[in-house]
Amino acid sequence: MRIIFIGPPGAGKGTQAKVVSEKFNIPHISTGDILRQAIKNNTPMGMEAKAYVEKGGLVPDDVMNKIVVLRLQEPDCKNGFILDGYPRTEQQALNLDEALCQQNKEIEFVLDFETSKEVIIKRLSGRRICKNCQGVYHIKNMPSKKEGICDKCGGQLYQRPDDNEKTIENRLKVYAQATEPLIDYYRKQNKLVEVNGDLDADALFEILNKIFGQKRK
Ligand code: AP5
Repeated sequence: MRIIFIGPPGAGKGTQAKVVSEKFNIPHISTGDILRQAIKNNTPMGMEAKAYVEKGGLVPDDVMNKIVVLRLQEPDCKNGFILDGYPRTEQQALNLDEALCQQNKEIEFVLDFETSKEVIIKRLSGRRICKNCQGVYHIKNMPSKKEGICDKCGGQLYQRPDDNEKTIENRLKVYAQATEPLIDYYRKQNKLVEVNGDLDADALFEILNKIFGQKRK
């Protein structure tokens, strides 16, 4: 299955992508995680991306397109993938369609996580990430067993620098301007499935499980 998760920051795309990836055995490709790892490792791409990510702006399309096209050529993508955070602009969507078309493939599902601003703010302000394995927690909704420590690997939890009020506002603005138009782009291709991102994580997973489970049959 070739899937895109689209939705505003904090909609729960990453959280759901991790469980769907495990259940259906397809890789979760988060462009945000790839960029944060590159920034942490001070790679040339990370150094270029840092200022954009910190301000909540978009990293240039040509950089993102290269990253994703190369990633999709890896063997684990043979039976499908979940793209989380890409495409984010029309240019990226066109590039993705073209790259898949060259392999005689296409996107099958685009899940649109419709989420209210109130919920987004609460989720992002309480989010904590593992420095080591990038596991995602929330201080109220999904707390780790031991405060500040990742349940899975014992790594230290931290707050993403772009999860502050000013940057969240900018990320929401950028989402509305650059990414929201893609919803219509995929609706026209008959690939769009709208889900309620405000639901709690288990309820949302049940819905996704049904959607993708039916496809598997
Ligand atoms: P990215 O990492 O993709 O950030 P984002 O799109 O802003 O999405 P988030 O990671 O904030 O939210 P999410 O929907 O995954 O929510 P999560 O599951 O964590 O991108 C970061 C930056 O990188 C961008 O701003 C940009 O600069 C750059 N970038 C990345 N891709 C790019 C591209 N293609 N082009 C250009 N630039 C790019 O959940 C949030 C919190 O809520 C967590 O604490 C979680 O525990 C909790 N939670 C999740 N679901 C639920 C639920 N259902 N109920 C209750 N709590 C929940």
